Amino acid sequence: VNSSNTSFIVLAAGKGTRMKSELPKVLHKVCGKSLIERTLAAIAPLAPAEIVVVVGYGAKLVESEIAEIKTRPEFSSLTITTIRQETQNGTGDAARIGLAACAAASEYIAIVPGDVPLLGQAELRLLYNESAVAVRLLSCYLAEPRGFGRIIRNAANHVERIVEEADASESERKVTEINSSVYLLERTFLAQALGALTPANAQGELYLTDVVSQATAEARVVDAVVVKDAQRLAGANTIVELSALEQLQRRRIVESHQLSGVSFEDPQTVYVDEQVQIGADSWIGANSRLYGRTTIGSSVVIEGDCRIVDSEIQSGAVIKLGSYLAESVVGANSAIGPFVQLRPGTVLGAEVKLGNFVEVKNSKLGVGAKANHLAYIGDASVGGGSNIGAGTIFCNYDGVKKHHSQVGENVFIGSNSVVVSPVEIGDSAYIAAGSTITKDVPSGTLGIGRARQTNIEGWVERKRGKQDVKKK
Ligand code: UD1
Ligand code: MG
Repeated sequence: VNSSNTSFIVLAAGKGTRMKSELPKVLHKVCGKSLIERTLAAIAPLAPAEIVVVVGYGAKLVESEIAEIKTRPEFSSLTITTIRQETQNGTGDAARIGLAACAAASEYIAIVPGDVPLLGQAELRLLYNESAVAVRLLSCYLAEPRGFGRIIRNAANHVERIVEEADASESERKVTEINSSVYLLERTFLAQALGALTPANAQGELYLTDVVSQATAEARVVDAVVVKDAQRLAGANTIVELSALEQLQRRRIVESHQLSGVSFEDPQTVYVDEQVQIGADSWIGANSRLYGRTTIGSSVVIEGDCRIVDSEIQSGAVIKLGSYLAESVVGANSAIGPFVQLRPGTVLGAEVKLGNFVEVKNSKLGVGAKANHLAYIGDASVGGGSNIGAGTIFCNYDGVKKHHSQVGENVFIGSNSVVVSPVEIGDSAYIAAGSTITKDVPSGTLGIGRARQTNIEGWVERKRGKQDVKKK
């Protein structure tokens, strides 16, 4: 028996009533990845014949999440389909619907719940460690087993049946070995056993767990593999449980970066999503939030108190305290911040410098460009070596449409200028401080767009009298 001869069924139709949330449970996230994506990512390396996901509550939302997941390279070689379970009549009913949708001619069926966020490929591989049996499942010991199905073993220590909390006797409730809901089953046995399920239990549902007692009644072999790291099998039924699992996963993520040469000022306060990549010798300050598909090069310094989403920070860059970045690129050896905002579509070349209170949106800045203080650069391209003076604003919006401006290389824009887009400022041009630029400025030219200063002699004396001027 091997995984290529197995169809996987993922049970993901439940609402997750105990989450007290409108969002289907499997769309809740742990470290930036939905529970359903985590489950599929754990299965993917086993390269099964197919994966059938049983959806129900919020089916449309779950189906579209799965459609998106399927477009990712890690999942491209897998066959993933979904099938709807219209009413949630229990895990046994869900398994039956899933099995009917299995198209591959696999001899084995694996069943995995969609709400076990820390389940990994290592645990799933345990299903294949030994020779084939009718049912093999993963169990673990929990000091606090409340809410889970208990594994009931006979005098010879063989698994006899699984009893749900609601149906368990007082002594059965004391059993601390619990069912993880991760199974590998012989297909022909499963098909027959699912057909024989009845809802004669406390919840009036079809329990998938009842296939175990059917197997033992027919003297078939049932095997439970005890997983030592119980957290790997922990289901998330409430937001409290979900957040506890997220904390564990967060620590694991940070540790894996530490083991590949990344330093964290205070690992407890750093939030790093699963997909984030960080190069060696980078240093990540306290309260950094690194989310989504963010990539950080080597020897980058992130001072902390920042939020970086789906961005690329190239090697040697420094992101100073309090910066807020989304869908942006920061070139190698650039220094930005403190308190910079980079909005989607920002691409900074190498060695760019942005100082405090600079906002950039949908703009390109060339190598070595600078905006050291208080500026807004929106919908513009700025050539290498250009300097944007303090307080400069690109007026990219006329109340109806957005416009783009082009600034050449080595341009000097004096402080407090307003660039009313669309304009083009040629290479090496100068803009006088305080200008409002509404027309193109050719290369090598000084553009001045402001009222000329006049000094009126004696004006104050005439206004307020001689005495008053002397006092000052
Ligand atoms: C189930 C097991 C229990 C085990 C526990 C481990 C049963 C009867 N009980 O209980 O032995 O200890 O998991 O976490 O199997 N689902 C459907 N359709 C349904 C019902 C559920 O798709 O009609 C899906 C849910 O979305 C979920 C999974 O099956 O992903 C498990 O369902 P859940 O209600 O969480 O079962 P538990 O009560 O946790
Ligand atoms: Mg559950």
